[in-house]
Amino acid sequence: MAPIIKIEGLEKTYDNGFQALKGVDLDIHEGEVLALLGPNGAGKTTLISIICGLARATAGKVTVGGHDIAHDFREARKLIGLVPQEMSIEIFEKVEPNVRHSRGLFGKPRNDAYIEQILKQLTLWDKKDNRIRELSGGMKRRVMIAKALSHEPRILFLDEPTAGVDVELRKEMWEVMSELKKSGVTIILTTHYIEEAEAMADRVGVISKGELLLVEETKTLMKSFGKKELHIDLESATDTVPPALAARGVELGPNGESLIYSYDTSAKQTGITDILSELRQAGLRLNDLSTRQSSLEDIFVDLVHEQKQDEQGDAA
Ligand SMILES: Nc1ncnc2c1ncn2[C@@H]1O[C@H](COP(=O)(O)OP(=O)(O)OP(=O)(O)O)[C@@H](O)[C@H]1O
Ligand SMILES: [Mg+2]
Repeated sequence: MAPIIKIEGLEKTYDNGFQALKGVDLDIHEGEVLALLGPNGAGKTTLISIICGLARATAGKVTVGGHDIAHDFREARKLIGLVPQEMSIEIFEKVEPNVRHSRGLFGKPRNDAYIEQILKQLTLWDKKDNRIRELSGGMKRRVMIAKALSHEPRILFLDEPTAGVDVELRKEMWEVMSELKKSGVTIILTTHYIEEAEAMADRVGVISKGELLLVEETKTLMKSFGKKELHIDLESATDTVPPALAARGVELGPNGESLIYSYDTSAKQTGITDILSELRQAGLRLNDLSTRQSSLEDIFVDLVHEQKQDEQGDAA
């Protein structure tokens, strides 16, 4: 199936000469939830702004539902709902008329039943006659989503939907996103919260310094990069790893109080049994054993770190 959004060689240099995107290629599939992870200033909002027509690309091409945003912008934009990073909302207006008005801006005929449906879906129906300023922060965010959905878009961009919100509200937003996904909406969200990407996204894209470093299915990413570490706490500290263990890749932990063995979770044989028997033969006594799974966070930090090292290497 053709991707619902196709991004090819996208570049953006701002007027001050800063290059915020350095050639991004990305296909987004209909119905998926894609999380864009990246540090501050990575270019996430820039990417979204270009797709939504708020900024103009310097080079490259984007099609949305087959419509080129450069030549066929109105058709492309109709398919998109955007909840921007900065909260901008008409606080003196009432919820329901405000959402209805958003729909009108896209030239869609009035459809009160549909507006009722989304307000109910976002549990805002009992607030429909309230002024927006009377709502809590979380409800205001949901009004922003309702507005973004008012013209029945097939794609929803959520730029940092849960930045600065408490854990409970974040979970609530996740439920809203899951519901929307079920209704077939393609969702692209940006986030700094790795657990959010892990919980919500079918695929994760890692973006840093204007480059898309990787796009991968969340599950595959966790599996292929997913390493586990076995921590062996020793009864008494040692300053060297016995050769037989070193040969198996065992390393010395902090202060020589532990040994650390990294292994691949997808391998048939982890080698742990051998490690334990070598340990005994080397006469090392252990206090405790524990394992730890590398998380998406470790993967992310590693990737961004590698990019930095590559750049330093290039500069040298
Ligand atoms: N209008 C502008 N003029 C010049 N530079 C800009 C402009 N807008 C953004 N930038 C720069 O482009 C880079 C990418 O910004 P962008 O807002 O896309 O990052 P982001 O990944 O969304 O970051 P955050 O996680 O903080 O929201 C930053 O270095 C930013 O300073
Ligand atoms: Mg941003």
